Amino acid sequence: MKTILIICVTFLSGLFLVQEDVVVGNFTPQSSLTEVLISLGDKKPLHYINETNDSLINQGFEIVTKGRTIGPDGKMSHLQSKYFTCIDCHNVMMEDPNLRKSDPEARLKYAVKNEIPFLSGTTFYGMVNREHWYNDDYQIKYGDLVKPAKDTLINAIHLCTVECSQGRAFSDWELKAVMAYFYSIEYKLEDLKLTSEDYEKLNSFDKEGENKNLIAWLKSFYLQASPATFLEPIPTNERELGKNGNVENGKLIYDKSCMHCHAPGRVTNFTLESSKIDLKFLKKHMGKNEHFSLYNIVRKGTYALPGYRPYMPNYTLERLSHQQLEDLAAYVNS
Ligand code: HEC
Ligand code: HEC
Repeated sequence: MKTILIICVTFLSGLFLVQEDVVVGNFTPQSSLTEVLISLGDKKPLHYINETNDSLINQGFEIVTKGRTIGPDGKMSHLQSKYFTCIDCHNVMMEDPNLRKSDPEARLKYAVKNEIPFLSGTTFYGMVNREHWYNDDYQIKYGDLVKPAKDTLINAIHLCTVECSQGRAFSDWELKAVMAYFYSIEYKLEDLKLTSEDYEKLNSFDKEGENKNLIAWLKSFYLQASPATFLEPIPTNERELGKNGNVENGKLIYDKSCMHCHAPGRVTNFTLESSKIDLKFLKKHMGKNEHFSLYNIVRKGTYALPGYRPYMPNYTLERLSHQQLEDLAAYVNS
């Protein structure tokens, strides 16, 4: 009896030991994607930070959502921009149900379900997990201005604070805080929707080796860069003016995107409401080939003017599809 007990205890403790062994260095749904990749042998990103804590994260959150926060000197900082905050154009939560695709139709459904806005900039969620910023047509159209941002997140942030927000660049402590906040909203393994077989595969990584295939495989679960295609407005004679659009969908776009900036008290003096009068204004200008036309304004946006800085960013194909523009036109026309 005694021997059996001893055997049992030895066996059990052996089991626990084995289990503990597996748990150490084991990747779980809560694991940070950056840390997993580094464990596999991937290079640390240039923007990698060693230091973070709750108070830095909170400062970063306030800078991104309100433009200011209490600084290291104990005083409220100056607004980063008088005209915008980052979240006028960027979400801070997951916005794509499938991280392998930039699909505006799926994104709109997801935005409705999760009650988040539908915007022209890419979400900050997982921003630190990307490897390129300001891609494709941004590189082509803006050339040297955006070149430094392509491979360096910090440069992309600097660019957007000045050019997109029409404000000032972050000071060092602000940048540190914003990066701490960005890392707090990086991808976790659970966001990649791995199966239990996937976890097994991942956990069998070679602790001494390079794991190049495994790294490439893991990166196939999400986009390393958000694609950006600029479009010319559809020529006037080819515009369908919403004939084949879906009014209900159009209203969702109007409410979740246009109103995000055009509602009274928001970022522009050009206020719109969901009233008939405002829709009438848009309707009047809907198809004509000039500044106010829905087709022009959506694909071209507007520019910041000296003395009047608020402007409207254009929507790329990846942020608003052809069909969605027709849906919006259908709503405005209804
Ligand atoms: C008026 C709109 C607007 C505001 C305000 C704005 N951005 Fe942007 N931002 C954009 C657009 C449009 C892009 C283009 C690329 C994209 O996000 O897909 C962009 C790109 C970026 C990118 C690169 C994203 C990528 O994946 O290529 C970063 C980083 C960024 N912004 C940070 C910021 C920060 C930080 C702030 C606040 C200080 C800010 N932005 C404010 C519109 C804006
Ligand atoms: C990120 C904020 C933002 C979003 C989102 C946005 N706009 Fe704008 N929009 C502006 C700003 C800023 C102006 C500049 C005009 C001004 O302030 O007078 C503008 C200008 C316009 C104008 C021309 C008015 C003028 O004075 O030049 C129209 C029309 C317009 N927007 C329609 C829309 C529609 C339709 C949508 C949705 C598809 C939309 N906007 C989404 C910020 C935005």
